[in-house]
Amino acid sequence: MQETVYVDLGDRSYDVVIGPDLLAEAGTRIAPLLRRPRLAVVSDEQVAALHLDGLRAGLATAGIEMVSLDLPAGEATKSWPHFERTVEWLLAEKVERNDVVVALGGGVIGDLVGFAAAVLRRGVRFVQIPTSLLAQVDSSVGGKTGINAPQGKNLIGAFHQPSLVLADTSVLQTLTPRDFIAGYGEVVKYGLLGDAVFFDWLEQNGPALSAGDMAARVRAVTRSVQMKADIVARDETEQGDRALLNLGHTFCHALEAATGYSDRLLHGEGVAIGCALAFELSSRLGLCSQEDPSRVRAHLKAMGMKTDLADIPGDLPGAEALLDLMGQDKKVIDGQLRFILARGIGQAFVTSEVPADAVRSVLEDALATC
Ligand code: GLY
Repeated sequence: MQETVYVDLGDRSYDVVIGPDLLAEAGTRIAPLLRRPRLAVVSDEQVAALHLDGLRAGLATAGIEMVSLDLPAGEATKSWPHFERTVEWLLAEKVERNDVVVALGGGVIGDLVGFAAAVLRRGVRFVQIPTSLLAQVDSSVGGKTGINAPQGKNLIGAFHQPSLVLADTSVLQTLTPRDFIAGYGEVVKYGLLGDAVFFDWLEQNGPALSAGDMAARVRAVTRSVQMKADIVARDETEQGDRALLNLGHTFCHALEAATGYSDRLLHGEGVAIGCALAFELSSRLGLCSQEDPSRVRAHLKAMGMKTDLADIPGDLPGAEALLDLMGQDKKVIDGQLRFILARGIGQAFVTSEVPADAVRSVLEDALATC
């Protein structure tokens, strides 16, 4: 049941291996990258408690020893203090230029460790072992690394591609249902942005996938990673097409800021709501049919996902304040907001030509239901 997706980036190309029980194979998978049989592994305390022993055993089968650092779990770890601690630990462990660093965890660990690897000794190689669905289908692939600044999320970072990604779909069984389904928001995004057949398949198979069907999970992660790999290969540093991966994110980032990046709204939940709003906006602008936003919302609801602004607990600011928060998004270019809109399911495109009035009216109507 294993699949491999090749991310084709010239001399920075790499494999993303997807399937169950990959931790047990980590040693044989990583060994070809190593000059000496030693790895520095950075994880978070929650993931380490669940999976570090499995990784250690998997590495030992190939005679690889590991040292490890466990950081606190949570978004606050993606910050200068933990970045400094990580880099200093890697230096204290005498990680050399030709060594490999491993990121074992979700998006926070992958982004922080990737950035540490990007700057350590002017760049060492790293392997991503993503343990959340969101990290498996999105953040572990494509080389965006970084930390948050007080001024906003992901404002400090570098493009640094991993040398290998091992997406072990067995570890998804240890996620809470809420975390799993939040990651599913990013899976749906791929169908919506570029593959209507995949969206049809998700409508049919989403419930089985959510219930734990391993074959369905491998297929969904593989198709998502394949789509991301194709886009990243065309546009590694987001000069054009890569922005398609941000479908739903302009709304999502405003909602995350409005909820204080708290657990009132997980990133994947914001992406799902943002996709529903992006389709609503597209339909009002006459770009796609009125049925499309209804179909998007129906699938999200059928999966038990947050779909509407009313699903976010607590108060939200008004439409004008949310528009202001969108204006602070780092996707603003020359003062123009960039939106990802759609001409139908699977037909997204990037545009800067969205009248603010149309966005305001979508937000006002969405807030009216709260
Ligand atoms: N998560 C969006 C990207 O990697 O471009």
